[in-house]
Amino acid sequence: MKDNTVISVKNLKTYFYTNERCNKAINGVSMDIKSGKTLCIVGESGCGKSVTATSIMQLLPKLSRIEEGEIIYHSKDDRGDIRIHELERNGKEMRGLRGRDIAMIFQDPMTALNPVYTIGRQIEEMIHSHNKSISKKEVRASALKLLKNMGIPNPEKRIDQYPHEFSGGMRQRAMIAMAMSCNPKVLIADEPTTALDVTIQAQIFELMDHLKKEYNTAIMLITHDMGVVCELADDVAVMYMGNIIESGTAEEVLDNPTHPYTRALLKSIPVLGKGADQDINPIKGSTPDPYNRPSGCQFSPRCDYACEECDQGMPEEVMLEGTHMVRCARYEEVRKDGR
Ligand SMILES: Nc1ncnc2c1ncn2[C@@H]1O[C@H](COP(=O)(O)OP(=O)(O)OP(=O)(O)O)[C@@H](O)[C@H]1O
Ligand SMILES: [Mg+2]
Repeated sequence: MKDNTVISVKNLKTYFYTNERCNKAINGVSMDIKSGKTLCIVGESGCGKSVTATSIMQLLPKLSRIEEGEIIYHSKDDRGDIRIHELERNGKEMRGLRGRDIAMIFQDPMTALNPVYTIGRQIEEMIHSHNKSISKKEVRASALKLLKNMGIPNPEKRIDQYPHEFSGGMRQRAMIAMAMSCNPKVLIADEPTTALDVTIQAQIFELMDHLKKEYNTAIMLITHDMGVVCELADDVAVMYMGNIIESGTAEEVLDNPTHPYTRALLKSIPVLGKGADQDINPIKGSTPDPYNRPSGCQFSPRCDYACEECDQGMPEEVMLEGTHMVRCARYEEVRKDGR
């Protein structure tokens, strides 16, 4: 394990059990989340991005459970390596980790903010719950400082307002302030800007980038938007139907995409400065029914390269140069084709 890895996920399998059917939502996922780096998880709706995040946080919905694999938090203090997957979901140790070591922000800030308390009180409670020894005055001062650091204008007034008095972008900042209140080592952001307009989105991403650089926070950013990945990622994991089908550093994956699905995702985004007449190709077909999966490579029904071999089982991981990994039986042909 390299020194800057804070969370390592190994061969994670998380399944849902509904009406006596099993959905293998996460089917053997491995990844490292590193300090001072942004790992972007990208893929279409239903591929398992959120379930990966909620597995790490032990906030899985009912009817689902971690079936196999490991999630390890490398605390770098006297607690050593903590095996998250073995902790009780709502036990003391897990509750201690949540918020203090690993914080999560959601698409909708109202899921994390309580409408009946002021923003200040919620941040103060968060700080107090993880550090009982500091005085009320100090807690208030840190809450104020956080709001300021998150770029909330007029924080002295804002601190005593309720969530409904904040705009969407301001609420998202308040939620990030809450998430950052205990200086977590890891920040997991699940589509944090989908509901916001593009200028506010850019500001929130700038803020996250700042947190990464200033506090060396490890960030796991979930998005379905390849444009966001190109802008923010240090590392990339591309997911499809519960598997990571390609991963590596941003340069490795984005400069030399090798899985047909990654290539298709990249072709589906407009490139800034290329004008309106560029080719933008939406990916053909749709994701298969999770209860009725293809037997082999999950992408094969939509893939131009698919051949008989692709039906024989999910392709093994192939290590290319550096940290670049791909799971495609025909990656050599794909590469030969150029882009
Ligand atoms: N509460 C739930 N009950 C039953 N199945 C679920 C639940 N949440 C997720 N799943 C299933 O788990 C799989 C992965 O879903 P997940 O929410 O992780 O996708 P996602 O990549 O986050 O998609 P999106 O981009 O739409 O947020 C899907 O097949 C989904 O149907
Ligand atoms: Mg999701």
